Amino acid sequence: MTDPTGEIDAYERDALGALAHCTDADSVEAWRIAHLGSKGRLKSMMPLVKQAPPESRREVGRRLNELKRRLEAAFEDRTVAASSAPPPGIDLTEPGLPPAEGRRHVLTATIDRIVDVFGRMGFEVADGPELEDEWHNFTALNIPPEHPARDRGDNFFLGGEAAGHRLLRTQTSTVQIRAMESTPPPLRVIAVGRVYRPDAHDATHYSMFHQVEGLAVDRDLSMVDLKSTLVGFAKSFFGPEAEVRMRPSFFPFTEPSAEVDMWMPVKGSWQWVEIGGCGMVDPAVFEAVGIDPATWSGFAFGLGVERVTMRRHGLGDIRRLFENDARFLRQF
Ligand code: DAH
Repeated sequence: MTDPTGEIDAYERDALGALAHCTDADSVEAWRIAHLGSKGRLKSMMPLVKQAPPESRREVGRRLNELKRRLEAAFEDRTVAASSAPPPGIDLTEPGLPPAEGRRHVLTATIDRIVDVFGRMGFEVADGPELEDEWHNFTALNIPPEHPARDRGDNFFLGGEAAGHRLLRTQTSTVQIRAMESTPPPLRVIAVGRVYRPDAHDATHYSMFHQVEGLAVDRDLSMVDLKSTLVGFAKSFFGPEAEVRMRPSFFPFTEPSAEVDMWMPVKGSWQWVEIGGCGMVDPAVFEAVGIDPATWSGFAFGLGVERVTMRRHGLGDIRRLFENDARFLRQF
């Protein structure tokens, strides 16, 4: 009579020895079919249970189960090892290629810094949709129906009656209105986002660009608060030498209004750069959003992100910012 346990032991050594010689996925698979497959050698061992004397059947059964588990585990390990083994001809000691490094877009980096500086000055981030209605883009901002800024040719209006006079916003001043509609004064908000105007693309014009809008509403705010806010921003952003100059101007939503210039570094040398507009919130704007202009006062400003970024880095062509040429963007 054969010794079933000895036969099982011998088979296990044999099978594991064969597996150790399988170094690639194909040979491991061939081994699996030969040993663990439905017509494999392990299956052919099963009758040993019945052939064994009754008193040792239990033991033979247990031993066969154990054999099955061990062969399966060895197969799993070998599969992992074979799949991670280098294909022939690959030298693992050769130095690798460094992974490509990503970075923030220069406009995103500028925006993040602007938001950070105003954040430290107590301005909270506010937001509004890029697809706006005429109320938020014009009417509430005291831009009357006959105003040339509303001309269809100067705006991206949505087509068709169903569009309901909606347009891509032309300025982030829309967010001033949305902030005042949703938050009772006092408030201080900063909004950054894309705006759209149907300008033909050239070195200084693009049909989409970014603005930063600021709004403060409180009791007894004056031009002094406005200017000291802008000066505080300029000095944090560009350095202690930075200055702000305001030149009288006109915007429908502020009275008085001014253009803002900042004394800032332009490729290392300091210059005056025109960077946006500002003013005291017009009482008509307060009335549009139901804030009493006799009790509340406010200032607002709007800055062009591309303008600041381009002057700062001495870039001559706005289109370069939107071509997504990594070789160009990597320099910042
Ligand atoms: N919205 C103006 C523009 O797009 C910029 C601006 C000017 C914003 C004066 C303001 C402001 O908040 O007070 O040209």
